[in-house]
Amino acid sequence: MNMTLRDPTTPSKLFHRKLGVELPAVASASGIYIRLKGGGEIIDASCGSAVSCIGHSHPRVVAALREQIGRLDFAYSGTYSVEPAEELADLLVESGKGAFSRVIYVGSGSEAMEASIKLARQYHVERGEPQRTHVIARRQSYHGATFGALSSGGHMMRRRIYEDMLPVSFSHVSPCYAYRGQGEDETVDAYTDRLAKELEDEITRVGEDKAIAFCAEPVVGAALGCVPAEAGYFKKIRSVCDRYGVLLILDEVMCGMGRSGTLHAWEQEGIRPDIQATAKGLAAGYVPLGAVLVSPKVVNAVLEGSGILNHGQTFQAHPLACRAGLEVQRVMQEDKLVEQGKGLGELLESRLKDVFGEHPHVGDIRGRGLFWALEFVKNRHTKECFPLEEGIADRVGKAAFEHGMAIYPGVGTSDGETGDHVIIAPPFTASDSEIEMIVERLKLAVTDILGG
Ligand SMILES: Cc1ncc(COP(=O)(O)O)c(C=O)c1O
Repeated sequence: MNMTLRDPTTPSKLFHRKLGVELPAVASASGIYIRLKGGGEIIDASCGSAVSCIGHSHPRVVAALREQIGRLDFAYSGTYSVEPAEELADLLVESGKGAFSRVIYVGSGSEAMEASIKLARQYHVERGEPQRTHVIARRQSYHGATFGALSSGGHMMRRRIYEDMLPVSFSHVSPCYAYRGQGEDETVDAYTDRLAKELEDEITRVGEDKAIAFCAEPVVGAALGCVPAEAGYFKKIRSVCDRYGVLLILDEVMCGMGRSGTLHAWEQEGIRPDIQATAKGLAAGYVPLGAVLVSPKVVNAVLEGSGILNHGQTFQAHPLACRAGLEVQRVMQEDKLVEQGKGLGELLESRLKDVFGEHPHVGDIRGRGLFWALEFVKNRHTKECFPLEEGIADRVGKAAFEHGMAIYPGVGTSDGETGDHVIIAPPFTASDSEIEMIVERLKLAVTDILGG
């Protein structure tokens, strides 16, 4: 096949995220590298937005997809069941060690959260509690772009122009963000007690029997920059939810599927979700795929009630998408990539701390597994943020690109309005020397914008 890319002098007809900016055209990608048309090789140091966890062009996934498209392209999931969807569901249920008993496939992280929230509502209706109509989530979180997912998210900038249209049946409490949220003289235990109390107060404010679910990212991704919860937080949250019959929906779209050092991020918290949303690393970007992993408690409520899932989409359980997910997850298991990613993550953490630990404008270095971020501050002691107009995170991202490396910048870190961070989330298949190279290039980029 000889595919020519469009003449770069012709303006794009694509409604890109930023208009008036010519994006570099990609010619191909393999391993941890993206090759640009006209030359130039970019290290994919954030897997886009934590997607390409086994690297690009993996021969096993390419072969599996070729085989699948030649055998079966599509069979409507309302009428048929397809093998890759069943096999991937077996694998995912098995991975939960009893936490899940069924899987719903969707096409993205937003859809996974949308379906999770709708399923949580259905659970209560099935059990004769239709008065439950309220969802509680956290500020500085991102749960997706569709209306339900956007309403649950607390990412101010992404919500702003829709704010007046978003339903009032969603409200938000504080994230577990110790760098800025924990008082100077407050212990971790007192801090997490305070956050659990805040959730409990919010549940009782809306009405003890009114809340459907509480949504949270175990490690907050794009909105906060790789912030894991403090020890004990999720256990306290889980018990508040249980006290009021509120379901716990964990959004592992970004931090899950091995990214945080265990296949499911909650495995490190000593709790289990009632419903889990997953996407990015599930099929690693080979074909869009998201999933909702559902606990026996929720499945049984539907089985014992209507017996019908009140959520369906034309392309759910698409054979090609599920085959991609299945092969990616088999590669992950057989090549022990979660363990490998954890080891690489330890190297990344120690190199980031060596290089940036004393940097006057790096306020915090945090993360888990192979999911790390730097939060930039104007003043390390006061934690004062840079003014938004200075565009620090974006500029560091652009400088990194100039040095041949793509990272994932984010803003609004501190309070939804100001604050800058960049995320480093390389493929689990990177080598030690590639991790070293990533940190070296990041150092060059940070030095370009903020000095050494
Ligand atoms: C935690 C989280 N949830 C949901 C989403 C939405 O996923 P998608 O962009 O695939 O719709 C994202 C995307 O970045 C995310 O990071």
